[in-house]
Amino acid sequence: MSANITVMISGSGSNLKALLDAIDQNKIDGQVCAVIADRECSGQQHAVSRHIPFIRVDRKLDQASFTDTLLRMIPSETDLIVLAGFLSVVPTAVIEQWPGRIINLHPSLLPKFGGAGMYGLHVHKAVLDAGESISGCSVHYVDSGIDTGKVIAQSEVPVHTDDTPESLQKRIQKEEHPLLCKVVAELCHALPQKTQINKDFA
Ligand code: GRF
Repeated sequence: MSANITVMISGSGSNLKALLDAIDQNKIDGQVCAVIADRECSGQQHAVSRHIPFIRVDRKLDQASFTDTLLRMIPSETDLIVLAGFLSVVPTAVIEQWPGRIINLHPSLLPKFGGAGMYGLHVHKAVLDAGESISGCSVHYVDSGIDTGKVIAQSEVPVHTDDTPESLQKRIQKEEHPLLCKVVAELCHALPQKTQINKDFA
């Protein structure tokens, strides 16, 4: 049986689209069972156009309501949660519900340029300000810190002397898509499925 993936987004959803395309091409043994966004964002079109259940959980809710809503909205049959440009911090209660089953994509070579405030163009600006010659992207497990969980895989990307944050972001985003798809494919293959676990314990 193939894995159920919930994807969480806040932006344009190019990584969500890359995952959906990889699933269509049978490169990932799974299906996206839900897409959750924490704000109005253009990425939701990829879910809506493919008739994938789409849920918006308002990031401005108070912490307790945000946590409760996420716990209710993430389908219980979810085997893997993929944060693909999701900008809210995932509540601890959600991490505890899916231990070792939540991964995040970050546009730098962690542990460099991670943590609070390091998102989007801020990351690439910091990389350029630091005079780095190599940057890249990381996929890591989510723990209760910000960008602190164990790194699963990384891709390196050269930094050019005439780069702007925007040009570096563009070059890195091209590498994010295959990296994320590769990790998701491997985890879908390796993770015991929740439905299977439930059956084993029944
Ligand atoms: C990506 O650059 C990712 O590294 C970061 O957020 C961005 C999301 O892009 N965490 P998209 O919404 O998948 O196009």
